[in-house]
Amino acid sequence: MFKLPKSGLHGKLLLPGDKSISHRALLIGAISNGPTVIKHFLRSNDCLSTLQAIKDLGINVEQHNTDIIVHGKGIKGLQQAAKPLDMGNSGTTTRLIMGLLAGQAFASELIGDASLQKRPMRRVSEPLTMMGAKIQTTDDGTLPVKITGQALHGAKIKLQIASAQVKSALILAALQADSPSTIIEKLPTRDHTEQMLRKFGANIQTAQDQLTISVEPHPELEGQTVNVPGDISSAAFFLVAATIIPNSDITLCNVNINKTRTGILNALLKMGANIQVTELESQGEPAADIRVRYAHLFPIKISEEDIPAIIDELPLIALLAACADGQSTITGAQELRFKETDRIATVAQELRKLGIQLKELPDGLIIEGQTAWNVTDPVLDSHGDHRIGMMMAIAALRSTDDLFLNEPEAVSVSYPEFFTDLNSLLKTRKEV
Ligand code: S3P
Repeated sequence: MFKLPKSGLHGKLLLPGDKSISHRALLIGAISNGPTVIKHFLRSNDCLSTLQAIKDLGINVEQHNTDIIVHGKGIKGLQQAAKPLDMGNSGTTTRLIMGLLAGQAFASELIGDASLQKRPMRRVSEPLTMMGAKIQTTDDGTLPVKITGQALHGAKIKLQIASAQVKSALILAALQADSPSTIIEKLPTRDHTEQMLRKFGANIQTAQDQLTISVEPHPELEGQTVNVPGDISSAAFFLVAATIIPNSDITLCNVNINKTRTGILNALLKMGANIQVTELESQGEPAADIRVRYAHLFPIKISEEDIPAIIDELPLIALLAACADGQSTITGAQELRFKETDRIATVAQELRKLGIQLKELPDGLIIEGQTAWNVTDPVLDSHGDHRIGMMMAIAALRSTDDLFLNEPEAVSVSYPEFFTDLNSLLKTRKEV
């Protein structure tokens, strides 16, 4: 059990690399010709699941701290794994690799941990079937998944769920099809796969509606250098911490500000947060230094069209709302129920321990902002979910009680250095 510290935050922090971009650099590097150099790679458990998977598929990888070299073998260069591929806790690895392996000339099996075994995989296998893929899930539509690699056909597929993981799986399959494909999204989602594949030489067009993606098959993908910017989903914990803890003033350096990911910045600004974004020169995705100071917060309404750009930060929105002056609502967020935990339920259960009043909706939360919280249970729980653990660690900073966190090690899924980085911002605190 971890005793949670209290005080304002001060200083500068260089964020670890973006998780979504790190996964994609490994997978796309593996199917490209020649070396791909990944700089500032995120060495978290989820990304290490992807790294191990490409090694098991016959790819050589050199590791030099946070720099990685992937010796890609081209789109037909992967080899059948000797054993089932272990996806660990990583939904992104699982879903993207399903698309990649659906078109390979060999069979694969994917397994995962207890949390991943509960997560839905038909959302990927069903649209892939429309391209001719042969994928078998359990009767519940979950792992283990068996993929019998097939010759795939180009298709026009309209997605029923706004999911970058599903879209990316289809794009990776479409690269291997016998004719062009069109994928139509429900709402625009993070576009790292499209951006990175273009950089590696693929012909992928996104229409003006930002929803329709056309993929030309069989590109000559050439290895590249990928500079991974800091992860805004990790920065978000400190953006929120500095906003809700009096006297805080921090700068988060080199944070990715791809606009499909900046919902948290937009929400913070709408709520009255004190944020300055200074864009940096970048050779890849856009990045910025972000200064954030304590602020008085107003309530917010988040609805369906806002969700994709803020999906992983919604637990933090609930926390911000708990500190705001009035009632906030999150709706259209039923996808939260299918994350590492049912995040509507786990957010409600954990924030209630701090005395925060909220109501669970099937697709969101209604949260009553309060200045004073009355802790009813000092033992908080990550539920084995990295983002719930980190959100509660930040929430605990606002409370005057001594609080504890069960299963703090869950943070290693996306942010192994989280507590070290949090402590560094607390140590540089100036008394005012
Ligand atoms: C991710 C997409 C999101 C997000 C996840 C990472 C990605 O999932 O929640 O943490 O890297 O594509 P969905 O696209 O399934 O919503």
